[in-house]
Amino acid sequence: MSRKIISIHSFRGGTGKSNTTANVAAQLGLMGQRVGVVDTDIQSPGIHVLFGLSSGDISHSLNDFLWQRCEITEAAYDTSLQHNIPEPGAVFLIPSSVEVDEIVNVLREGYDVSLLTEGFKKLINELMLDVLLIDTHPGLNEETLFSIAISNALAVVMRPDHQDYEGTGVTVEVAKSLGVPGLHLVVNKTPSTLNADDVAEHVSDAYKISDVTVLPHCDELMTLASEGIFSLRFPDHPLSAQYRALANALVQS
Ligand SMILES: Nc1ncnc2c1ncn2[C@@H]1O[C@H](COP(=O)(O)OP(=O)(O)O)[C@@H](O)[C@H]1O
Ligand SMILES: [Mg+2]
Repeated sequence: MSRKIISIHSFRGGTGKSNTTANVAAQLGLMGQRVGVVDTDIQSPGIHVLFGLSSGDISHSLNDFLWQRCEITEAAYDTSLQHNIPEPGAVFLIPSSVEVDEIVNVLREGYDVSLLTEGFKKLINELMLDVLLIDTHPGLNEETLFSIAISNALAVVMRPDHQDYEGTGVTVEVAKSLGVPGLHLVVNKTPSTLNADDVAEHVSDAYKISDVTVLPHCDELMTLASEGIFSLRFPDHPLSAQYRALANALVQS
């Protein structure tokens, strides 16, 4: 398989980007892929929690790399052992800082987006990654556009909610105009009162996208409350099978 960059994005927050990213990463790792996960949601980082990394464990973050205080590989944490990902698979996490000063710095001063390209390349080469997953900040800004533009595949996550429908249309249009090759829609938190096939058909027609995954609202995932990666904790749950299928679809596109 060729080396791939896959962005997970949503127009609005709280759609389930970080959970989707963490589960796709874990499943790819179990399939034997070497995976990197970068938390580019610098303004509201969170995916490290799912991976069980506390702020005290993070001595170097993506922020340090962007301020040129460390190499990006120094901010890469190998989570494979902790999550029982056997070789040849591996999952590395590059977290963003949760320190107030670091976040405020980014909001005030921004950062040189071109450094990210350099960092991503270095991660792929030095950690010998098959896949680099990018957990993005919601909405459209310079960094997001950049991540989308350099991706081989993009998963746009939305809820079946009218506020999400409109914004997702904007993201999809932008992704299409940037010529992103593998465009996937993930409808997450779908209530059991809706028929998944109907939802898939509706969004597929509305956005002219054939690759659609409809994930249910899941009480067990909600109850896990980000204290772990769902598909590793509940490997036999139907939602875990859906995460596996999504992981396959994203790397194969
Ligand atoms: N399919 C789902 N069913 C129920 N709760 C979910 C589901 N996906 C995500 N959540 C919950 O929604 C919240 C936001 O998820 P998260 O992955 O952090 O979203 P984002 O990264 O887009 O902000 C979390 O509390 C998470 O547990
Ligand atoms: Mg998130």
